[in-house]
Amino acid sequence: MSQMRNLEPGKAWTVLEPVKVWTVLGVFLNLMLLLPATTFMETSATTWRHSGPRLQLSHKEMHWTNSSAVFWSGGVSGGYQTLLLDESAGWLLVGGRDHIYLLHSDNLALPTRSIYWPAVKEHVDHCRLAGKNVSTDCGNYIRLLQPFNKTHVYVCGTGSYYPQCTYLDLGHSTEEPLFQLQDHAVESGRGKCPFSPQESFTARLTDGELYAGTSVDFMGANAAIFRTSIHSSSSHQHYIRTEAYQDHWLNEPEFVGSFSIPDTHSVDDDKVYFFFKEIAVESSQWDRKVYSRVARVCKNDVGGKRSLINRWSTFIKARLVCSVSGPGGIDTQFDELEDIFMLESKDSQNPIIYGVFSTSSSVFRGSAVCVYSMASIRAAFNGPFAHKEGPDHRWVEYKGRIPYPRPGTCPSATYDPLHKSTRDFPDDVVSFMRGHHLMWEPVLPATRHPVFMQVNVPHILRKVVVDRVEAEDGQYDILHLGTDNGKVLKALSVPKDSWETEEILLEELTVFQSHVPILSMELSTKRQQLYVSSEEGVVQLSLQRCQLYGKNCVDCCLARDPYCAWDGSSCSRYFPTNKRRARRQDVKHGDPMSQCHDAGGFDTVEAKLVYGVENNATFLECLPRSQQAPVKWTIQPPHNHTSRLFQDEARMVLMKQGLLVQRLEPGDAGLYTCSSLEHSFTQVLTRYNLQVIPQQSMAASQARAADPGAEAAGVRGGNGGHDQRHAHLNRNYKDLHMMGVASMGVASMGVDEYCEQMWYREKKKQQKLRQLKWKQTQIDNRKARVRRHDYGEDAHLH
Ligand SMILES: *[C@@H]1O[C@H](CO)[C@@H](O)[C@H](O)[C@H]1NC(C)=O
Ligand SMILES: *[C@@H]1O[C@H](CO)[C@@H](O)[C@H](O)[C@H]1NC(C)=O
Ligand SMILES: *[C@@H]1O[C@H](CO)[C@@H](O)[C@H](O)[C@H]1NC(C)=O
Ligand SMILES: *[C@@H]1O[C@H](CO)[C@@H](O)[C@H](O)[C@H]1NC(C)=O
Ligand SMILES: *[C@@H]1O[C@H](CO)[C@@H](O)[C@H](O)[C@H]1NC(C)=O
Repeated sequence: MSQMRNLEPGKAWTVLEPVKVWTVLGVFLNLMLLLPATTFMETSATTWRHSGPRLQLSHKEMHWTNSSAVFWSGGVSGGYQTLLLDESAGWLLVGGRDHIYLLHSDNLALPTRSIYWPAVKEHVDHCRLAGKNVSTDCGNYIRLLQPFNKTHVYVCGTGSYYPQCTYLDLGHSTEEPLFQLQDHAVESGRGKCPFSPQESFTARLTDGELYAGTSVDFMGANAAIFRTSIHSSSSHQHYIRTEAYQDHWLNEPEFVGSFSIPDTHSVDDDKVYFFFKEIAVESSQWDRKVYSRVARVCKNDVGGKRSLINRWSTFIKARLVCSVSGPGGIDTQFDELEDIFMLESKDSQNPIIYGVFSTSSSVFRGSAVCVYSMASIRAAFNGPFAHKEGPDHRWVEYKGRIPYPRPGTCPSATYDPLHKSTRDFPDDVVSFMRGHHLMWEPVLPATRHPVFMQVNVPHILRKVVVDRVEAEDGQYDILHLGTDNGKVLKALSVPKDSWETEEILLEELTVFQSHVPILSMELSTKRQQLYVSSEEGVVQLSLQRCQLYGKNCVDCCLARDPYCAWDGSSCSRYFPTNKRRARRQDVKHGDPMSQCHDAGGFDTVEAKLVYGVENNATFLECLPRSQQAPVKWTIQPPHNHTSRLFQDEARMVLMKQGLLVQRLEPGDAGLYTCSSLEHSFTQVLTRYNLQVIPQQSMAASQARAADPGAEAAGVRGGNGGHDQRHAHLNRNYKDLHMMGVASMGVASMGVDEYCEQMWYREKKKQQKLRQLKWKQTQIDNRKARVRRHDYGEDAHLH
């Protein structure tokens, strides 16, 4: 990150060499436009195989492994959309349907309190009569929880399509918060809170004024950016807004986030920034393209005097770009802003802005995280305006005279002491502002490309919070990402030499049982906890699960998790303040050779003896400790000291959980070694000594087992084996089909289940086979045909 801030925007364009992986992706994305979707999936999956998470836990495994997750669902389910965390007081407010809940942020399992705040009955009736769904729409959904002062929180709910707001008194005591709703002070929530529980919405309460991006009608058509004064003293509520139904102000916006950020040392220059997406007026009229935007208004904007009365006179907006460039100049745009996070830094004027985007492409799904500096956002707002002469003209860069003071600047002594208020602005400034809201230049990400990207995965990213942490080798920004299917990912971007970055996916945790979207996330750095909500409930998640990375220094080091380090005896939480000597961590390179004493002689894995039957399938399990580590199999035939590297063959299939050998041949016998390769560090994981039992002996021994002494039965048994083989072949086609999915790294449920079955079947089979082998040896000894079975020689004879 420190490297990123030193970026000189102008220079980076020419200096920047695209990271290898982006280039590869670029090719795919371009190909994708030409090829049918399936081909694209096949092609790209091979490249993305390595980008799986280091640690992947299903919802069940979250419980089994004691993965520091506490689940709370004590309320009326259906949309715990709003969270508010008070770090110092130690509580977490959860806004749900008709209720506000008070949870202990130390432990969500501790007793909770709740306040029942329903919608008024006549509004529920009205909502139903208007054709809305009573069970999903006509409640009082809490959409806003914002700190107001030391004791009070401002709270708004949809009120069954009749938004309402009031204060929540938490009192002074942190041990026993008061937690009382000021029922007597309920006021209209118009312009502060949406009518609908589903409408996207943002609001920020600062200095007694509420800035909100919301609609103010039943249909959600009249959307605007509002500022409402909520000083309880003023009885009539004054507000200022963007102009209604004018698409060059806002065009079907979906609001995502808003922040108050100072611009200079003077409070008069303070601005509020809004992040949203909308239908792009400047793109072609014919395709309704969605663009992401950043807009800003001055906090001291009071509107114009003769025109723009009660309308923003400083509202300007710019396009927010998050894209991947491909060769040939074709960019893939991640146009749809999903969430925005402001990472505060020591310099309050220059927080770092993280955005999560998704693609609107109908061909494939993808998400990306881009980072923006305030400098680049300000540069766009200080640049040229966009201009459209008339309905039949195109959008162009405005090259005419720009009036003074420059439209979009706040009235302050910084620029001109004569303009004390926006009402003092000259007429030409106000009239320019009526027609020019859009900037010509877009805002580009600080690293020019996304810091994290996921394409061709079964989810899209919906939420992000970022934790800046100190590690042994520097500072890292850890991304905690919520998906649309109940998962939380932990990722980071490691700066490499010469502008490149490497993305690392550390964890993929399924925190909710059903595949529900993550609605809200709050991070407690003090408690090292993450609070994640969906319509099912709220999950409290520890930021690290270091012990699950492995029980040795090598695995701990290879994980490259800045939260974790090898402390000499276990992989545990890293504290930057601790003495350095015993802490082993290498986030940048993940090189165990430099960190771990035991990294050398690691190949002490003994070979397990397994039996397979000729023409049957066998499965050799090998689970890499990291999803990121590619697995390599080597095969060494008996009586031969040279081993060969496994390559995809018709009968041998590399699956996610191991090697599937179909229709065993006697020549398949040998020593199978599975090793993983990660950051040029090789580890032997498992080793098998595979013996192949010829089918004839099998049939014979089976027949004998069924009816000892009957020679004829042996023949029938042989035929039976033949039929069985046909049936088995059919199954193999199915296997192959499934393998087609598995080996491409697309985690499909079917394959996982299949493999799970495979293990159990294999375990039972091995038991049986050992007995059979024993019996067979008895028979063979008795017949004294051969003294010892050597399947390698058998293969030679065939
Ligand atoms: C799970 O974690 C709790 C709290 O840290 C601990 O008390 C308990 O022993 C753990 N259980 C298992 C099975 O590891
Ligand atoms: C209301 O929504 C629920 C949940 O989505 C659904 O099951 C129900 O059928 C809906 N009712 C009506 C009247 O549409
Ligand atoms: C906070 O605001 C509420 C509502 O206006 C008011 O009643 C209360 O006295 C304020 N508390 C403090 C500590 O200022
Ligand atoms: C061989 O495969 C068939 C079909 O899956 C199975 O029914 C049979 O039991 C297998 N034989 C042995 C010895 O495992
Ligand atoms: C030993 O195995 C290797 C690799 O499979 C093979 O190329 C070589 O011919 C084998 N040597 C003998 C003597 O069988």
